[in-house]
Amino acid sequence: MTVNDKTFVPFIPAESIQNRIQELASQINQDYADKKPLLVVILNGAFLFAADLMKNLTIPCEITFLRVSSYKGTSSTGQLKEILGLTEPIASRDLIVVEDIVDTGRTLNDICEQLRVLGPSSLAIATLLFKPEALLKPMKLDYVGFEIENRFVLGYGLDYDGLGRNSADILVLE
Ligand code: IMP
Repeated sequence: MTVNDKTFVPFIPAESIQNRIQELASQINQDYADKKPLLVVILNGAFLFAADLMKNLTIPCEITFLRVSSYKGTSSTGQLKEILGLTEPIASRDLIVVEDIVDTGRTLNDICEQLRVLGPSSLAIATLLFKPEALLKPMKLDYVGFEIENRFVLGYGLDYDGLGRNSADILVLE
């Protein structure tokens, strides 16, 4: 598949993605058997993952969405990404933050820091993809779909210049 000037080749087929999501969902069903978690989905990339994950959850659960802006506030890392659009109260809730990919980990780090201030009972992270080589500081990821090498991927919600999110398979830059 060619997107603008770049060529992407097959990487993780749709069937493997769906199988792995079923495994993650079974684990969550067990871990949250007596709870009612709130899935907090990071837009835009995680929307397909969140939908397929939620369809495989059999426990009572709710969902809400947020996005991040690159807000130039000062923090230890320089730029702090600010949470936008969180309307649901999250105090005393069991949160599962749903992300498409953890690359440097900066986005999730900023989000989790801001969510924790709002007093949830617990906070877990579910990410479909994880690039361990790119991670800047250690971070506990509770549910990881696939650990991948440090290459640019697209499809299944992930984009290149806004395109490619609609591919059911995940592709990698050639
Ligand atoms: P981080 O803050 O460096 O962990 O970056 C996380 C965000 O960068 C993800 O939510 C994606 O939107 C984007 N991203 C990182 N790696 C890729 C990739 O390989 N393909 C598409 N988007 C990516």
